Amino acid sequence: MTFDTIQAIPLSPALGAEIGGVDLSRPLDDGVIGEIRRALLQFGVIFFQDQDITPEQHLAFARRFGDLVTYPMVKGLDGYPEIAPVIKLEHETDNFGGIWHSDTTYLPQPPMGAILVARELPPEGGDTLFANMVMAYEALPDDMKEKLSELIAINSSAKDHVAKSREDRQKDMVDVPEPLSADHPAVRTHPETGLKSLYVNRGHTVGFKGMAEDESAPLLEELFEHQIRQEFTCRFQWRPGSIAFWDNRSTQHNPINDYHGHRRVMHRITLAGDVPV
Ligand code: OGA
Ligand code: MN
Repeated sequence: MTFDTIQAIPLSPALGAEIGGVDLSRPLDDGVIGEIRRALLQFGVIFFQDQDITPEQHLAFARRFGDLVTYPMVKGLDGYPEIAPVIKLEHETDNFGGIWHSDTTYLPQPPMGAILVARELPPEGGDTLFANMVMAYEALPDDMKEKLSELIAINSSAKDHVAKSREDRQKDMVDVPEPLSADHPAVRTHPETGLKSLYVNRGHTVGFKGMAEDESAPLLEELFEHQIRQEFTCRFQWRPGSIAFWDNRSTQHNPINDYHGHRRVMHRITLAGDVPV
């Protein structure tokens, strides 16, 4: 698939591409936005380098792709409630979302995607891994595809590494009294591409409806291991000015926690999604 206004350089055969030829600080016409959306669907996650954008420009770009939602566990930036800071400080040991996951699948309508801007990076480390869940689904044996087609996965924020990941959460995490929980098909069909993807994740999936734990636990473990096989992944190395935009319906991600003693600050905008089917 080719593009007229942008360039796309794949990061791995599985997913991910670096997009060139576009300056996100400027207003973009519908043709360019359409090509960026097409690249997102094709590659699952797209990256922009050497961008210098303000929070306003970040918001303006994100709004071209849909409605924005606030993140349930994190308070937004002052004056920008829709921008969630994703931070690990020098003295902290856990990182935000430091486990393989698709974002907030414990919501009835999980996000369609997120746009993450690197603001402060450690001198090295802090890369993010991504994995292609369409590929993971397609690589399953037929009898497993058959079995999963009937199953509804239970997703819960109680398992949420994200929620426990900041030592100083009292200060800047929103209080979520009860764990949030949502049931979604274990295999979902992408509303735009029509492709099926494996829709369970280690971060949030706790079981299957109507299945006892002693049956669901080994099945989930098998799927969690399968879905992140190296050949389904890519690894993105951030630079100042890097931006990642992932399709949360068909991919998972896992930020690597290998930069203790250093600060990493990212700004994230979340795009509204639909009910998985
Ligand atoms: C997120 C997340 C990844 C990262 O913002 O949802 O998982 O690289 N962040 O910080
Ligand atoms: Mn995440």
